[in-house]
Amino acid sequence: MRATTVLLLNLVVMEKPCVYQHSPLHPTLQEELQQHFNMVQPKDVEQFREKIVAIYVFVAPPVDAALIDSFPNLKVVGNNAVGYSHVDLDACKRRGIRVGYTPGVLSDATADMGWALLLAAARRVVEGNHICKDPVISQAGVIDWLGQEVCTTTLGIIGMGRIGTEVARRAKGFEMEILYHNRTRKSAELEEELGATYMENLTELLSRSDHVVLVAPATPSTYHMMGREQFKAMKSTATFVNISRGSLVDHDALVDALKNNTIAAAGLDVTEPEPLPRDHPLLQLSNIVLTPHTGSATLNTRHNMLRMTIANIKGGLSGREMVNEVKL
Ligand code: GLV
Repeated sequence: MRATTVLLLNLVVMEKPCVYQHSPLHPTLQEELQQHFNMVQPKDVEQFREKIVAIYVFVAPPVDAALIDSFPNLKVVGNNAVGYSHVDLDACKRRGIRVGYTPGVLSDATADMGWALLLAAARRVVEGNHICKDPVISQAGVIDWLGQEVCTTTLGIIGMGRIGTEVARRAKGFEMEILYHNRTRKSAELEEELGATYMENLTELLSRSDHVVLVAPATPSTYHMMGREQFKAMKSTATFVNISRGSLVDHDALVDALKNNTIAAAGLDVTEPEPLPRDHPLLQLSNIVLTPHTGSATLNTRHNMLRMTIANIKGGLSGREMVNEVKL
């Protein structure tokens, strides 16, 4: 074989697959992704449209049918998140496109964030921080300034999947009674290990819980599952935390519940829409703590998610098994 032919063959073999970058990434992680793929940025997409074989995405923007159909040779969506409600699965199925996702590796970090929000909202940490830093407000006011007890109270968990289970494990350390609501009841072994009681009836869980953490997946049946009726069923001293997706909560109902003291406080890592418009009424309230969908945002966790996504994309492109593939 002539030397030029060998060189050409080598170049073909070494060429990295073209992956469309639909969401931005931390610079350290971006470097890692680029070691494996030729990452195509939106501004360069026209040049590479035919060559793009995979899409990299985090929790947004949506991967809709129009985007999917704009890439004639697309084979894989590498969803670098456990939730995939932003991916049009029907469109993927129609085109025979495989979808990878990242369950498991982010459960601890996300459960930690649920707890951070629960403690911050119930114990009014952000308001306290404001009092301490404000040059005008006097700290003398803290005398009649109280939050809600967390330790030894009752925690209601809606959605006992991997993350819900980790939320429960942490609640054990706080000596809490744990109630949970889930599509299906968990095994007796897990219930015993967690000390968790199954509540088939959501309203009963809401009315018995001192604090509620929502961790159920976003599906058509969970859309706005927390609305006026559900907030009304909660205790007026209760804290509501959402670490799943904003679409599970009717935000107008939440605004009213927080304004009218139907519930005491809320902590949200996710909202609908995301981010909230700057003039959204939730942002005017002092009894709410918000984080910008950063439940999995530690370098270690994001690294583990990315490694899984890289393996998922490679597996999908080569026709092998993915580490975690969405069933279409
Ligand atoms: C984060 O929200 C995720 O779904 O991974």
